Amino acid sequence: MGEFDGDPRAGRVPRPDGGAPGAAPPGARPAGPAGGPTAAYPALRRPITVGGLRLANRLVMSPLTTYGLADPDGASNARHRAFYERRAASGLGMVRVESALVHVSGTCWPHHLAVHHDRFVPGLAALARAIKRHGPPAILQLHHGGRVAVPALSGVPALAPSPLPAPGRPVPTEMTHEDVDTMVEAFAGGARRAR
Ligand SMILES: Cc1cc2nc3c(=O)[nH]c(=O)nc-3n(C[C@H](O)[C@H](O)[C@H](O)COP(=O)(O)O)c2cc1C
Repeated sequence: MGEFDGDPRAGRVPRPDGGAPGAAPPGARPAGPAGGPTAAYPALRRPITVGGLRLANRLVMSPLTTYGLADPDGASNARHRAFYERRAASGLGMVRVESALVHVSGTCWPHHLAVHHDRFVPGLAALARAIKRHGPPAILQLHHGGRVAVPALSGVPALAPSPLPAPGRPVPTEMTHEDVDTMVEAFAGGARRAR
């Protein structure tokens, strides 16, 4: 049972399409059990186009780091895939996959998902297929930890615009113009691989 089951608005929200309150609008695919938490918000079940992507409904999974499901080097694996596939199968309109490293210097935690090398593409491609098999498009969040990165994990200094430490972190290396160019290319490389 959803937390909105006792919502006094349930059943009284006007439906522009004239449908019964709480019922899925025409063209929407199911997202959770009828009468569940989305019943009081019928617009959530309506399709929408965002940035050229057609979503069957407006329920979008936030990026959630899985802290340990990927391989130690950041490769997506069967265990990691199973986590996302289960959520994709629940009727979401879109799945946003957690922060993925575009450059090793941005590593923030063990098993940080990675997209900074071509060797990660097969695992990420299998992940995208596993999600899309259930309908929702998959988005990968491109990430670099900046001054919050942990050199003890990455083996290289943390890079940041200024040599100002984040709480509990060592002083990061101030980026040169060349470092900035490298990082721009790292994000572009991550975007290319994520396609
Ligand atoms: C375990 C955990 C992992 C998260 N991982 C990410 C992440 O990888 N990228 C990101 O942008 N936000 C991440 N977040 C933030 C969530 O996506 C979300 O924005 C946050 O929980 C606030 O959502 P809420 O206001 O619905 O609680 C994470 C949050 C949690 C609790």
